[in-house]
Amino acid sequence: MGRAGRAAVKENLPRLRDEWRLDFVVVNGENASNGMGLSGDHAKGLLDAGADCVTLGDHAFDQKDMMQFIQNEPRVIRPINFAHGDVPGKGFRVFEARGGRKVLVAQALGQVFMKRAFDDPFSAVDQVLRTHPRGGMVQASIIDIHCEATSEKMGMGHFCDGRASLVVGTHTHVPTADTQILPGGTAFQSDAGMCGDYNSVIGMEKAEPMRRFVTGMPKARFTPALGEATLSGVYVETDDRTGQATRIEMVRQGGRLSQSGPI
Ligand SMILES: [Fe+2]
Repeated sequence: MGRAGRAAVKENLPRLRDEWRLDFVVVNGENASNGMGLSGDHAKGLLDAGADCVTLGDHAFDQKDMMQFIQNEPRVIRPINFAHGDVPGKGFRVFEARGGRKVLVAQALGQVFMKRAFDDPFSAVDQVLRTHPRGGMVQASIIDIHCEATSEKMGMGHFCDGRASLVVGTHTHVPTADTQILPGGTAFQSDAGMCGDYNSVIGMEKAEPMRRFVTGMPKARFTPALGEATLSGVYVETDDRTGQATRIEMVRQGGRLSQSGPI
């Protein structure tokens, strides 16, 4: 989320990659550019900091240069059900992690309380998981379910249970405390939270959103809050043979939220 979020990733990710011996890192970058979408330059910054894959979201193309950039940078993926017809980029991809292991990453947009009616995410994800079985074609699979409603995210978690290694939500910027491994071996958290300044309203400088809530009147533009960011996310361990998750931990590093992460 904005400059503070980018800084948190840049400052922490190289160290965490090392300390936690991370084999594969996915960063949701959709609001890293001034709180609206992701520019090519900022995507490059996240990849250079140690992301193996950057996912986008409903604001995928708010920064217009992403339309071009994503066509030349396969490590950036957009939602699989973003729009009909000609959408630049891909909604899923199989990556190669350290040691030659294959990791599937797919992102889908939910439908509940979203600003427009996206296509059914469940059938889109179903098709990808059927063609990329965990423990078969890929050693691990990650589904980023980008949407507003925790109910829809949990629905997606259970829909993918036994088929994906991890289902994790993004979009709300607020981490949820329902970190768990579902019965079929799929790690799950409804929302990963944001890398951003939590002295804010979901990452935005709080004065303007508060004014709009309190008075109903807009007066200025939203701008990202610039205090020290918390790096939020999840840490997952998987079994290479089965693709099942064996451990998931909530991650919160730096900034205002209480600390957590692998020990
Ligand atoms: Fe979003």
